[in-house]
Amino acid sequence: MVCALLATASPWDMSSLAARRILLGITGGIAAYKCCDLLRQLTGAGAEVQVVMTEAATAFVTPLTLQALSGRPVRTALLDPAAEAAMGHIELARWAEVMLIAPASADAIARLAQGQANDLLSTCYLAFDGPKFLAPAMNQAMWRAPATGRNVATLEVDGVTVLGPASGVQACGDEGPGRMVEPNALVSALAAWAGAKAPTTTEPSPWAGRHIVITAGPTREALDPVRYLTNRSSGQQGFALAEAAAEAGAQVTLISGPVTLPTPPGVTRVDVESALDMLAATEAAFDTADLVIAVAAVADYRAGAVAPQKLKREGTEGLTLNLVPNPDIIATLGARRGPGAHPVLVAFAAETENVVAHAEGKRSRKGVDFVVANDVSRADIGFNSADNCVTVVGPAGAEALPKMSKQALSAQLLNRFAAALRP
Ligand SMILES: Cc1cc2nc3c(=O)[nH]c(=O)nc-3n(C[C@H](O)[C@H](O)[C@H](O)COP(=O)(O)O)c2cc1C
Repeated sequence: MVCALLATASPWDMSSLAARRILLGITGGIAAYKCCDLLRQLTGAGAEVQVVMTEAATAFVTPLTLQALSGRPVRTALLDPAAEAAMGHIELARWAEVMLIAPASADAIARLAQGQANDLLSTCYLAFDGPKFLAPAMNQAMWRAPATGRNVATLEVDGVTVLGPASGVQACGDEGPGRMVEPNALVSALAAWAGAKAPTTTEPSPWAGRHIVITAGPTREALDPVRYLTNRSSGQQGFALAEAAAEAGAQVTLISGPVTLPTPPGVTRVDVESALDMLAATEAAFDTADLVIAVAAVADYRAGAVAPQKLKREGTEGLTLNLVPNPDIIATLGARRGPGAHPVLVAFAAETENVVAHAEGKRSRKGVDFVVANDVSRADIGFNSADNCVTVVGPAGAEALPKMSKQALSAQLLNRFAAALRP
């Protein structure tokens, strides 16, 4: 019963899952606890995951946990007027590109095989006409029962890909087939599906023919001919965004402070050093831009006067620097543009406390459409890290995204900014 996808998929080609819309169904089995890891891996690969749980599943793992991990409210009820008004069961089925039910209980398998639509998950299943994956998990005797065998065979005839189950020692102490396939194997199976699938849809990219200007990296503020002030920004997030934007079909201008990263394919790079240089380059690109994303960690201050000769140590008691404020690049553009006008403006904000409150304040003060805030007090994300975990504060409010690679995050962010594009 183990599908070939499980055997052949590489655990390393997860990038195909970036921005894929996955409907993850969770049913009432002991293996439901593994869904936390499964969900974390899927979102970490950049997938957008909407969780739908059966009522029984909520006895094994809480919707709150899965909401925190997916960054989306978890859906559990069919006859819920508020949830239906937000995204009805048919819309959920239309939204999804692929559906994975893991774990799939014997009961759920029976109901799906019969075409029942007596809860939200089975209704979505029936309304969804895309690829369906199912990871059964149950006691070995339940799995071996002829009724389960008939139901699984029916689902396979219906075109469902059944992943597993695996064999081994079970939670109940039995040994045999019925264990849910491990989350990393399920993620690999979805990645293999996504990799084999033709690029997302036939819809044209919203970025085709659009000009995106991105600032990245630190700035370097000279003190004398050999010394400067700078910061720890590596440029990785800005470069990842530039790469994703070029892949999405945009014309990309990447205005970069001093970094050691290669220029992504198809991207026009403008190298600058100081904040004033970066402002000048950004203003030069502004008039033709559809979207400006200010990711650079621009120095707040520069020397009031740059010493023309190397500052000497000899004969001094110490050194007092006279620093003057640098212009705020994105706020300068915000003031030049005016509220809601062209282009869309996005500011990145590194915060160490009260991340959302500070981001909301910055959004209105700087006159931008979105603030992408990250908590740089966390050692596992942000500066010099391959991963990032941000909160996007935009016209629709604040949305906390789960931790993911900077590449995966870039695709997710562009999807959100596309909604604000001016005609
Ligand atoms: C502690 C406990 C563990 C269970 N584990 C499983 C399981 O692993 N697989 C399964 O098919 N049913 C299991 N069941 C039974 C299901 O929860 C039950 O059949 C339920 O109706 C499934 O509902 P659902 O398919 O709508 O989620 C378990 C029940 C209990 C009380």
